[in-house]
Amino acid sequence: MTTVTAPLPDIDEPLADDIVMMRWFERKDAAALVDVCRDPEIPRWTYMPDDLDLRSARAWIDRRSQARRLGRSATFAVIDRSLGVLGGQCGVALDRTRNAGEAFYWVAAPSRRKGVASAALRLLVRYAFDTLGLERVELKIDPENAASQAVARAGGFTYEGTLRSDQPFKGRRMDSQVWSRLPTDP
Ligand SMILES: CC(C)(COP(=O)(O)OP(=O)(O)OC[C@H]1O[C@@H](n2cnc3c(N)ncnc32)[C@H](O)[C@@H]1OP(=O)(O)O)[C@@H](O)C(=O)NCCC(=O)NCCS
Repeated sequence: MTTVTAPLPDIDEPLADDIVMMRWFERKDAAALVDVCRDPEIPRWTYMPDDLDLRSARAWIDRRSQARRLGRSATFAVIDRSLGVLGGQCGVALDRTRNAGEAFYWVAAPSRRKGVASAALRLLVRYAFDTLGLERVELKIDPENAASQAVARAGGFTYEGTLRSDQPFKGRRMDSQVWSRLPTDP
């Protein structure tokens, strides 16, 4: 990823549809973040630490704000509108040399299988193309993670292939399925 110092443009209002509302993380989300990340399925498939406490959750939120100010990534807290609580996160890390971004997401256990990830990814992709002006959004998914692959498919992403031993991931090397979406895709 390149170092870009221009802050990402702010959003005038939260990104929203009938299922989710997406806004920037705030320090007040720390307790909910700790609670949600107790579910081992989140650290199992994502870079979220598996020992998050209130202090490290606040630090995690501060790093998200800093990354946005530095123009490196945009991470949204996803509010599950049916429950009115933090239902997940969804964001994109930018590579301005390629004018592309890598999206990422997780959904809290009580909010799963209700279309939350698909809705969040749809809104994120629109933000990435329309607000950030990216020309490609990609996903890197563990070949064993069937649920995430279903989200990619539901979000209109195209599977491009699998990179072998693509990246270090929590003490092992991970193969990555690459999925992409372009502004011209239907
Ligand atoms: C993967 C994850 C984000 C899915 O979130 P979700 O809100 O339940 O997903 P949605 O309700 O939007 O479902 C989207 C599609 O995935 C399918 N799906 C969801 N969970 C699934 C599962 N466990 N197994 C198979 N398919 C699944 C849904 O049926 C739906 O398919 P459809 O469009 O054909 O109906 C969630 O399970 C999660 O956070 N897992 C742990 C973290 C993780 O894997 N993050 C992604 C790392 S790449």
